[in-house]
Amino acid sequence: MSALALDAERVRLDFPILAERVNGHRLVYLDSAASSQKPEVVIEAVSDYYRHANANVHRGVHALGERATELFESARTAVAGLVSADPRGVVFVRNTTEGINLVAQAFARERLGPADRIVCSEMEHHSNLVPWQRVRDQTGCQLAYIPVTPAGELDLEAAEALLRPPTRLLSVAHVSNVLGTINPVRELVRMAHREGITVCVDGAQAVPHMPVDLGELDADFYAFSGHKMCGPTGIGVLVGRPQLLEEMPPFLTGGSMISVVTLERTTWDEIPHKFEAGTPDIGGAAGLRAAVSYLESTGMEAVQGHGAALSDYAIEALSEVPGLTRYGPSGANQLGILSFNLSGVHPHDVGTVLDRYGVAVRAGHHCCQPLMRRLGVAATARASLYLYNTREDVDTLLEAIGEVRRIFSD
Ligand code: ALA
Repeated sequence: MSALALDAERVRLDFPILAERVNGHRLVYLDSAASSQKPEVVIEAVSDYYRHANANVHRGVHALGERATELFESARTAVAGLVSADPRGVVFVRNTTEGINLVAQAFARERLGPADRIVCSEMEHHSNLVPWQRVRDQTGCQLAYIPVTPAGELDLEAAEALLRPPTRLLSVAHVSNVLGTINPVRELVRMAHREGITVCVDGAQAVPHMPVDLGELDADFYAFSGHKMCGPTGIGVLVGRPQLLEEMPPFLTGGSMISVVTLERTTWDEIPHKFEAGTPDIGGAAGLRAAVSYLESTGMEAVQGHGAALSDYAIEALSEVPGLTRYGPSGANQLGILSFNLSGVHPHDVGTVLDRYGVAVRAGHHCCQPLMRRLGVAATARASLYLYNTREDVDTLLEAIGEVRRIFSD
């Protein structure tokens, strides 16, 4: 049994909600792929913003306006530092979904036509699939999908065949929210760029769990959400190549994103502000800044190492449960997301019984209906791990799965 990289019992203490009792049991939170819990420092940062700095950004000449602006912009710098990006390319959005929609509407819809093709994959979350179907319907372009192999990985030979003309855009998940597969994004970016294809990456399940260096990855667009990385809900990030963002028209229009407005026409502000219409989620940015600092002080290598070791431990334990089928790879290209079914038991029933024991998992199609069809199932139960999960949490999950089996075999 390999050692865990973090003392998760100690990390747990940083997260006040993990002291909750659920149905008379210690809370075992295994739904971080849907939304992570928040450490005290993030909760405090949001509260401090509203107590000491609340005002609108980029407007006030007064002290609070300056404090709020400084906080908001320092959150941008912090996010840029975490993923090694140019702060001018860091656009605050609501979430990954909004980031991808921004690329779909302000980039793809503007540039693609019936002679072009977009490629994504069969393992995409609906947020990285439906926006491209919409662009297809708006522009008449084609849409093709990289198949998923029975091992739960992208078929790279098929990808290579698709990443050539008429493909103009690839949009792919860095880590699958169902299978936990870490996709070889650097290799895909290389293949795509050789053919002049622009690459957008859904990084929602990657940035919270592993070091991500966007300078090295070289994707043109990369989106992720604050709430899955210990930050608040309602704030997310789209990182774009500054030159592309400069060439693109805005996505949303209105206040804050303009330079000069007359009754006839408007000129746009500089990037990234051109893409941040209206009052942003300033409190969310304050919380995200604290989340970035929390993750950095923990160390992203340690977060990834902890997830990998705990994942190996859980995969081995699950493999010994009779009648349990797990979906997704094992080993180094899997990241702490364990989807499974128990024969003869609906995943919603699995989730409901687990909840009785204080174990929170997600059950359903996980916003991935095409992937469910590919796996030949309607739904799965999904346990997802994070830095505050312990071996004891995994042991509790296994005991509770034993109870599910007992109940449904009666
Ligand atoms: N994308 C989130 C999940 O996979 C909501 O659960």
